Amino acid sequence: MDILKTIRFIALGAIVGLGAAWGYHFWQGANMPDPASLAGDAIGGPYELIDQNGTTRRDTDFRGKFVMIYFGFTFCPDACPTALLGMAQALDDIGPSADRVQPIFVSIDPDRDTVAQMKSYVEAVDPRLIGLTGSAAQVASAAKAYRVFYRKVTPPGMSDYLMDHTSLIYLMGPDGKYLDHFSHETPPDKIAEKLRRHVR
Ligand code: NI
Repeated sequence: MDILKTIRFIALGAIVGLGAAWGYHFWQGANMPDPASLAGDAIGGPYELIDQNGTTRRDTDFRGKFVMIYFGFTFCPDACPTALLGMAQALDDIGPSADRVQPIFVSIDPDRDTVAQMKSYVEAVDPRLIGLTGSAAQVASAAKAYRVFYRKVTPPGMSDYLMDHTSLIYLMGPDGKYLDHFSHETPPDKIAEKLRRHVR
C-alpha cells in the first residue's frame, strides 16, 4: 500500500471508525452464494440507479468497458472499504489497461446512503470509483440482478443498524456479461492477476 493509499485508508477509517470499533463480521454469513453457482449470464442485468453527482446511470452506460462492481454500504466497518481499496489497488497494479475498467460501488443502504453521502465516500476511496444509490426499489432490483443479498441488522446494545450483505466483487465484460468474481478477502495482487487475464 503506497502512501496515498495509506492516507485514503486513514481518511476512510475516520468515516467508518465508529463502525470499525463494533468489530462485527456479518458478511461471511450463510447469505454468501456458492461461488460454484456463479456462472454465465445468471449474474448481472439491467439496472437504473443514481450516481454520486445525481445523474441517472444504467448498466448499458458502461458497455464497451470492463466493470468491477461491488454492492455494500458506506457505514460498513471493514468489508466494504477493504473490497473497494483492493479494487483500487488492483487497478493501480495493472497500469494503463486500468483505463478500460470502471469500478462501481452500489449501495444496498439507500436510507442512509444519499447521493451526497455517496459523493463524499467515493471521493475518499478513489476518484475513479462511481457510487450508485437510488430508491429502495431501484436498489433491490439491481441487487437481485447480481444475486446480492442484504438485510438490516442491529448489533445488541447499538442504536444504529448495520447491513448484512453479500461481499463479492463481480468482473463484467464490455458486453455486460459476467466474467469472474472476487471477495473483499481476495488480495489485490490476485485481483490484478485475474484482471490482466481478461483485460487486454
Ligand atoms: Ni460491507
